[in-house]
Amino acid sequence: MRIRLSLNESPFQPSPKAVELASKYAPLSNRYDVAELRESLISELSRYSKVESEMIEIYPGSSYCIVLFLIYAKITGLPLVVPFPTFHVLHQLANSYEIAVKAVELKGKEFILNSEELLKLSEGSIVYLSNPNNPTSDLLIEDEDLISKIASKSKLVLLDEAYFEFSGKTFYNLAYEHDNLVVLRTLSKAFNIAGVRLGYSISSKKAKEIFNKLRVGYEIPIMSQAMALGALKDIDYMRKTVNSIILLRDETRKRLLELGIWSPRSRTNFLFLELPMKCVDVKREIERSNIEVLCLSDMLEFKGRFENWMRVSIGNEEHMNLFVEKIQQVLS
Ligand SMILES: Cc1ncc(COP(=O)(O)O)c(C=O)c1O
Repeated sequence: MRIRLSLNESPFQPSPKAVELASKYAPLSNRYDVAELRESLISELSRYSKVESEMIEIYPGSSYCIVLFLIYAKITGLPLVVPFPTFHVLHQLANSYEIAVKAVELKGKEFILNSEELLKLSEGSIVYLSNPNNPTSDLLIEDEDLISKIASKSKLVLLDEAYFEFSGKTFYNLAYEHDNLVVLRTLSKAFNIAGVRLGYSISSKKAKEIFNKLRVGYEIPIMSQAMALGALKDIDYMRKTVNSIILLRDETRKRLLELGIWSPRSRTNFLFLELPMKCVDVKREIERSNIEVLCLSDMLEFKGRFENWMRVSIGNEEHMNLFVEKIQQVLS
């Protein structure tokens, strides 16, 4: 059995309520969409997010919204400002779509954002921010004023809060003040349903329209909507799983720090580790025990950078014990 710690998935199964609703709606799959189901899902998301239903939009995975965002960047030709490093999918797609990127290099071993530089570049640009940031794991921005200033200067901001339940920090309220701010979330991480592919955004109607004009419609399977609705109806289960991942994450980080492996504070379901040797060499060794991890240096976009850095997702206790044990063996 492979232990996949490379995709920031949850080690927990979906809530039984999600599975229950999937079987309830399965017989309706002769249709493209079930209006009442979609409405219930949006209303549940609006309740959970504490915003009106009109501010919510759903996507087949939040990465689908990132794709729309990049298509928008391509069509408009507006400069795209991103921290470096950030979510590798964004770097890869921007590269494939030949979008010119203005990168704001994160500084030091804690990957601190230069807010002055970001603000300067935001003028007339479109901005992607992952907060907390993948792969560096901590929040990039904790100051509401800064987000507000960025939104005031730029044309469009995609604020990716994929790990919101792990960080407890959100700026969704700023979507009321700034009609160009889109807060992006996903049910893939905290809600334990990555394979359902359900992401959502919180924004003004105007910002929703920007993306909706670029999509085909009916892209979210009825079964996915049903499972997402079921997962949202079991907030207690979500909180329980998030809390246990957070506990295990902090314990794993502590053990690794004791071994001399640096890791910035994490507000996500993964750790970013600086190893005393090349990530690819450690990865090759621990793969023998069927453990999969992510090395940034494996990707073209990071070639020659972050050679010693590894991103590892928090699995279950057994996975993490095995991971620490193997790392210890390889490094000794
Ligand atoms: C920052 C960030 N945004 C978006 C995603 C994609 O999530 P989804 O499964 O909703 O497409 C991920 C997944 O790892 C992520 O780390």
